[in-house]
Amino acid sequence: MTSDTSLSSKIIDGQDEQLAEVLSLCQKMNAERNLPALLGLIAREAARLMQADRATIFLLDREKCELWSQVTLDGELIRFDARLGIAGACAMTGQLINLPDAHEDQRFYSLVDARTKYRTRSVLAVPLRTATGEIIGTLQALNKTRGAFTPKDEQVAQALAAQAATALETAKMVQELRQQKDLLEAENTHLWKEVEGRVSTQNIIGTSEKIQVIVRLIDQIRDSSVDVLITGESGTGKEMVAKAIHYTSPRARRSFVAINCAALPETMVESELFGIEKGVATGVDARIGRFEQAHGGTLFLDEIGELSPAAQVKLLRVLQERVLERVGGRTPVPVDVRIIAATNADLETALKKGAFRPDLYYRLKVLTIPMPPLRDIREDIPLLANYFLEKYCREMGKEPIKPSAAVVRSLARYSWPGNTRELENEMKRLVVLTRRSTISEEDLAESVRSEGGDGTSSPIRSGRSLKEAVDELEKRMIGDALRRCQHNQLQTAKALGLSRQGLIKKMKRYGLKSS
Ligand SMILES: Nc1ncnc2c1ncn2[C@@H]1O[C@H](COP(=O)(O)OP(=O)(O)O)[C@@H](O)[C@H]1O
Ligand SMILES: [Mg+2]
Repeated sequence: MTSDTSLSSKIIDGQDEQLAEVLSLCQKMNAERNLPALLGLIAREAARLMQADRATIFLLDREKCELWSQVTLDGELIRFDARLGIAGACAMTGQLINLPDAHEDQRFYSLVDARTKYRTRSVLAVPLRTATGEIIGTLQALNKTRGAFTPKDEQVAQALAAQAATALETAKMVQELRQQKDLLEAENTHLWKEVEGRVSTQNIIGTSEKIQVIVRLIDQIRDSSVDVLITGESGTGKEMVAKAIHYTSPRARRSFVAINCAALPETMVESELFGIEKGVATGVDARIGRFEQAHGGTLFLDEIGELSPAAQVKLLRVLQERVLERVGGRTPVPVDVRIIAATNADLETALKKGAFRPDLYYRLKVLTIPMPPLRDIREDIPLLANYFLEKYCREMGKEPIKPSAAVVRSLARYSWPGNTRELENEMKRLVVLTRRSTISEEDLAESVRSEGGDGTSSPIRSGRSLKEAVDELEKRMIGDALRRCQHNQLQTAKALGLSRQGLIKKMKRYGLKSS
């Protein structure tokens, strides 16, 4: 900085002790990161160096066009219009002002004196200008002990102001960063409380033995980093269990990164998972992969059966050696990640067809959690239904609603091809639509009612045409067969004595989805 060089050359000449003191003060200022303490330090030292009765730092609030002083020598806080007074004039114009008698100057704002009962005589005000030239306030010294402020005082004040401005800027920045950090920490603690409440084994509902075994297993493995394979149809709670494993483990405060292998185009899977080095192809920037994002935490690989053969090889290597190679990279990158894989497909069949590597399969299946389809844990349906009803009533601020006994029976009988997710969605829909405090059968979705209901919703109940009854029976039988055959159309068609084309036609007619 130019002021620094001119300052040091003067000191080397040995001409000026006052300026040498300013320089040593600079080091103290730069070490002080606490804004109030820094303001106090500058004011104190400025008064001493210029033999003034007192000195004050005024900071400019541009938005409000106000000057404020956080610390005066006696600790009071002043805030006033920047268009008034000597300090204001100095900050607004950027000019040094040196007055032997302030009361003779029309810019002098006598109200401050009146209020503080202080009698101002001489004033020296210099702007606080940062390195970029921005004026952030005024350094003002009052009442020289003897006579008026000299040209040497002006020089000292200017040298001091230049250094003070930089130190103040830094301190202000540090203060803002600290405030932001505190804010983020508070927010983080708050979010953690939320997460801990939501994602734990307590939120895995079900008293059936099948669910309880899973809950106990999650508790048993909570302190280890063992990889896990979760199997089960869509909507059975695989992702929920994966999160419970992560958030109850020592890895909880690091990332849970989820990726759906089926949702990624084959050409992107590798770079997405393992990252890519810069310049692999034109215009490609280096990017870290999901594995590295999950470092220290958990990587949830959903629908692992859909992983490409090349990605399977790489994944196996990470599982065995805990190192990965980015696409186009040559140096191995160590990673500490727990893998939780999930599949709704029959991995064993994929294995037989050669679509999935046996070595990877055996490595993954060491700890397998099989999620039961909802139709296999029917005893949990009433509990789950009530849990979801309560949850959504609370979320939507509605009075609690209850299902009638007949509704509970229907829910427990229905086959729930979409498993717990379908049950959850149905309960959510009811909370949105039902105005009464009890849900009755008419409120239920048509599919649940006709399949799960008692005699009254049998296809042969009175009041419908033969065609309607036959259609309904046909639709139901096809739906059941599809579920039994896990949506394999060829098997379903065979089981029903239809051709595949015939089955597809009927599925279209009844709006039955192919998975
Ligand atoms: N036993 C259970 N207790 C509470 N909620 C459950 C249970 N099983 C599933 N759910 C809920 O059902 C929905 C679907 O679960 P999810 O984990 O996404 O299934 P999947 O990954 O197997 O498709 C989620 O909202 C989940 O919280
Ligand atoms: Mg899922």
